[in-house]
Amino acid sequence: MDAPVVVITGASSGIGEATARLLDAQGARLALGARRADRLEALAAELGGEARIRPTDVRRREDVRALVDLAVQAHGRLDVLVSNAGVARIAPLEDQAVEDWEEMIDVNLRAVLYGIEAALPHFRAQGSGHVVNVVSTSGLRIVPGQAVYAATKNAVRTLSEALRQEAGPDLRVTAVSPGMTRTELVDSVPDAGARAAARERMDEIGMPADAIARAIAFAIEQPPGVDVGEIVVRPTAQG
Ligand SMILES: NC(=O)c1ccc[n+]([C@@H]2O[C@H](COP(=O)([O-])OP(=O)(O)OC[C@H]3O[C@@H](n4cnc5c(N)ncnc54)[C@H](OP(=O)(O)O)[C@@H]3O)[C@@H](O)[C@H]2O)c1
Repeated sequence: MDAPVVVITGASSGIGEATARLLDAQGARLALGARRADRLEALAAELGGEARIRPTDVRRREDVRALVDLAVQAHGRLDVLVSNAGVARIAPLEDQAVEDWEEMIDVNLRAVLYGIEAALPHFRAQGSGHVVNVVSTSGLRIVPGQAVYAATKNAVRTLSEALRQEAGPDLRVTAVSPGMTRTELVDSVPDAGARAAARERMDEIGMPADAIARAIAFAIEQPPGVDVGEIVVRPTAQG
């Protein structure tokens, strides 16, 4: 695809930022969203002229729509939506951290639906489009403490497959499952001890975020008519 127009949510750090850097280097025209505007501004300045940014809280439907609209206004079309924003408030259900459950549902699941809602009309009008959803190996190997996080990721895996089946030949849908990747994600683990343990493990075996960016780029660079449905990328050391 020639200079695709790509929206990335959660582009202020980690996998989203690495994906923005890689796709920009490959010539994509980007619209980047996240809440931390300072981080987006610094990234856009590094990337040069084509990248657009918009402070975005993906829990707000109108923010997600405005980010998609920004891409279309700036670049004239939308080729790919990468729904990557996510939080991992890992804790046992026993802790009854209901607000953390709600945030994970809102950011990891509900916002993906907002993205589909915003992007589909453009994809339909163009007769092409690509939804890339960042899910997780947490949904493939379920472990204690990750119940709600993994549930949101598997809900997105399910709706990715349903969208693929419903969408017909014009739409591509990809679910990318990263294993442990060195990012800021563990900062959102509420318990200090669990957070430190997760950080240690991440530093020990985590992949660079670029490993996931390359998987996303691989799905995007396929010719029209070729849909990479699922990609799982783990560190070799991950059990
Ligand atoms: N790292 C891993 O080991 C791993 C493994 C499997 C899956 N994943 C998934 O990969 C994706 C990216 O995470 P990451 O590892 O790169 O972690 P990260 O560095 O913490 O990045 C998360 C991104 O999501 C954004 N975000 C969080 N809440 C948001 C909200 N309400 N509105 C808009 N943006 C929001 C953050 O931006 P702001 O805070 O600036 O809003 C940030 O840009 C997530 O979906 C995560 O679940 C990561």
